[in-house]
Amino acid sequence: MTGFFLDAQNADWFPKKDMLTVGVYYYPEAWPESQWARDIANIHKLGMEYIHMGEFAWYFMEPEEGQYDFEWLEKNIDLAAKQGLKVVLCTPSATPPVWLTEKHPEVLSVDAEGRTMQHGSREQADWSSPVYRDYVTKIDTQLTKRFGHDSRVWGWQIDNELSHYGRRYSYSQAATTRFRKWLKEKYGTIDRLNADWGGAFWSLMYQNFDQIQIPNPETLVADPSPHAVLDFKRWFAHETADYIAMQARVLRQYSANQWITTNFMSMHEDVNPDLSAKTLDVFTWTVYPVHGELGEGPLGFRLGSPETLGFMHDFMRSFNGLSGPMELQPGQVNWGAVNPWPLPGAIHMWILQAFGAGARLVCTYRYRQPLYGSELYHKGLVEPDGVTPSPGGREYSQAMHDVVELRKHYDANAQEPKALAARKTAFLISYDNRWDISGHKQTTRWSTEAHWFRYYRALKSMMAPVDVITPDRDFAKYPFVVAPAFQLLDQPLINRFTEYARNGGHLILTCRTGQKDMRGHLPETLWAQQIYPLIGARIPFYDLLPVGVNGRVKADGKEYAWGSWGDIVEPDEGTEVLARYADQFYAGRPAAVTHKLGKGTVTYIGVDTLDGELERALMHRVYESAGAAPANLDPNFLVEWRDGFWVATNFTSKAESIPAQAGAQILVGQREVPPGGATIWIEH
Ligand code: GAL
Repeated sequence: MTGFFLDAQNADWFPKKDMLTVGVYYYPEAWPESQWARDIANIHKLGMEYIHMGEFAWYFMEPEEGQYDFEWLEKNIDLAAKQGLKVVLCTPSATPPVWLTEKHPEVLSVDAEGRTMQHGSREQADWSSPVYRDYVTKIDTQLTKRFGHDSRVWGWQIDNELSHYGRRYSYSQAATTRFRKWLKEKYGTIDRLNADWGGAFWSLMYQNFDQIQIPNPETLVADPSPHAVLDFKRWFAHETADYIAMQARVLRQYSANQWITTNFMSMHEDVNPDLSAKTLDVFTWTVYPVHGELGEGPLGFRLGSPETLGFMHDFMRSFNGLSGPMELQPGQVNWGAVNPWPLPGAIHMWILQAFGAGARLVCTYRYRQPLYGSELYHKGLVEPDGVTPSPGGREYSQAMHDVVELRKHYDANAQEPKALAARKTAFLISYDNRWDISGHKQTTRWSTEAHWFRYYRALKSMMAPVDVITPDRDFAKYPFVVAPAFQLLDQPLINRFTEYARNGGHLILTCRTGQKDMRGHLPETLWAQQIYPLIGARIPFYDLLPVGVNGRVKADGKEYAWGSWGDIVEPDEGTEVLARYADQFYAGRPAAVTHKLGKGTVTYIGVDTLDGELERALMHRVYESAGAAPANLDPNFLVEWRDGFWVATNFTSKAESIPAQAGAQILVGQREVPPGGATIWIEH
């Protein structure tokens, strides 16, 4: 398995030798009781090993206030157990029943325009509302009292994709009150808040915490204080983690030997899984790779992007090794602007990519295609007749069949190949930076995620195993650390970076680093001066180019185009220049530099190119100079290693050959991997 994580205490939930297990969502409340036994038997026949139920079923669990009905769930759990399927149950808090919101309209969330949400969809309640929290506590308590000691129930999912969907935040009175309380705890006095929020700018001084509102772009005439926005985003993530923790406490109080997760949203900026690192046992997320985005190459729109899939694996796995996508697309979806059909084979490939990335579970939404409701165009594992496996259903079945075969070759003593260990990389992300940058962008051409992905793709093409971690975690043991766009920095982290390099680590920093302190203020120094000793260079200024104008930058005789961010870098003596700008009034001045620091190196890549090819070339150079002999694959062709198995998945639009040694034993697929194909082999 890749990564330096600690395995969770209770490994019995996911026996290591099983490696990966696959399951499916089933909504019994939507189907006649006469079909339950048939459906659950067919889920087992497809090869699924667990079933996920109870999500969105609050009305059926509590049809009238205080009247609970779990008999229908009991019957389905029993049917599942008879088929040997484990059961994941969900708290139903994403779908409050109508009687609740009718009686307590104050639990409804309020959008930026001040409109109160209504019954008629889902996620309409506000998790800052104390009344809502009480009702959720009550239903969770009843649910866990009933099933928390039931050995047929394997684990729990809290809520669904906590996000408020397109509404983003709630601006309700309840949310405002809790935001103020959080600020009071953080700052103690209003004077301290005024100082950190920059109240002297535009007379934004507050006299007490009760005057503070959630910064709402719809009701502010000009830009809000970026420091207030940063704190609001911190609070929102904290509030969500607090709500998850509140539900987890109830589940733990009445359950035993059952794991707890929540299904985070892939790449979602507002909710920070790191804040739930100590609350959850298993780290899961939802991902729908094909929903109308073009992707790369002619088949990109049918294959999805390997970085979106891979990045979440490498992030979520790093908490404790128990991770996997809880919703992985089963076929065409309903919610994209256009919803194309995934390339035949692609679904099978995504599941085997999850296997290669070290996932311990994959689950798909959903078993049956709904016959009514807003998602009736959404494919399931069976066709609308409820029994015929859909093309996606057949791919899930095939993938599970493959996993069962692979288990026969599981080798508990498999050691990560040395060549991979030598390239092991900690990819540092910080939500503070992500929030600060998106609240204070300085150029519409910037995307933090696109910037991350340029480096992430470079790493994958070099076959470097990656753990995506937050900077509070220990990165000292990784031979390489990449920390892209750390706009907010404090001295303790600069010290850790410095020590890391001095001790022999190779640190790669990128543009927009070190400009601000953790409050989001500029230090009273030269521009980004706090990182000068670390990077062995100065940054006299940066440039940004309007849409339609691209700058040029040159390295090793090759030219690359950039548009979003260019730091002009002035090397100290002894610092080597890796790339120079090739036009504009600063033509010839450096864009990227590297220098030795103690036993290690620090590289600063100050430019964000359009296609990431310069970044890839420079990263390659850094790894090569450090003796880590990087591979050079197409970034859309992934090769990963897990538990002794090599796993290649092809997201390109052409066939690719696996980099296997002679004598490799192919267990799944072929040497030539077609687009959307997956090949798994072992080397003796
Ligand atoms: C997810 C959501 C599911 C379902 C699915 C449809 O985002 O969590 O409940 O709506 O999308 O693709």
